[in-house]
Amino acid sequence: MDAAAVALVPAAGRGERLGGRHPKALVQVHGVPLVVHAVRGLLNAGCVRRVVVAAPSSYVDTMRAALADGGAKALVVPGGADRTESVRLALAAALGESPDISIVLVHDAARAFTPPELVCAVTAAVAAGAPAVVPVLPVADTVKRVDANEIVTATVDRADLRAVQTPQGFALDVLRRAYEADGDTTGSHTDDAGLVERIGVPVSTVPGHPAALKITTPFDLAVAEAVFGR
Ligand code: CTP
Ligand code: MG
Repeated sequence: MDAAAVALVPAAGRGERLGGRHPKALVQVHGVPLVVHAVRGLLNAGCVRRVVVAAPSSYVDTMRAALADGGAKALVVPGGADRTESVRLALAAALGESPDISIVLVHDAARAFTPPELVCAVTAAVAAGAPAVVPVLPVADTVKRVDANEIVTATVDRADLRAVQTPQGFALDVLRRAYEADGDTTGSHTDDAGLVERIGVPVSTVPGHPAALKITTPFDLAVAEAVFGR
């Protein structure tokens, strides 16, 4: 098995919770768009040989230019209406380009400051034989279930709960079967491992990292500006 991975980067979201005028992946931290930070991080990790980015369909050229400006080499393709569709399209483009892929990572552009060690830990776990791998963190807050009126109905034991990050890593065949089984009409999923669980393939975990946070809100963006160097 080729121990270097091909990474799919869904970057086609609008970033509604961030509230900007431009897609979130083009929002800048220290003058560099998030998607450029994300692709650079993957390529510099040393265990990724190719990156395919799914861009908002009306921003494909803009994203190509931003990546070229930032010296971040990637194939850019139009994404879809939801994250699942964007990953599906990026996977098809990756396979069209190089059918000999053995390990696929799926990594949110919004997790632009993921440490290279985490990228390679996920890749190595797949190379060592795990069919599907996700980085996880313990849940720090107390977790409660609420009803439609936001009234608490239960306190959930957090000991066996994990918050899940990306990159998520897969043996190619597993990710392909998961997406084929999903068809193209069953709606969006918030992660790719969820589709793999549905075809009965075990998903293993590696320790995640706080720096792999998903930049979702203006607060997260402020944290990224403050924490991550130029
Ligand atoms: N994504 C995508 N295609 C979509 C929707 C989302 O490729 N149609 C990507 C986003 O660009 C992001 C990742 O999936 O890198 C995780 O999604 P999220 O953080 O929810 O980003 P957005 O959907 O852009 O943000 P929001 O939900 O606030 O609009
Ligand atoms: Mg979203």
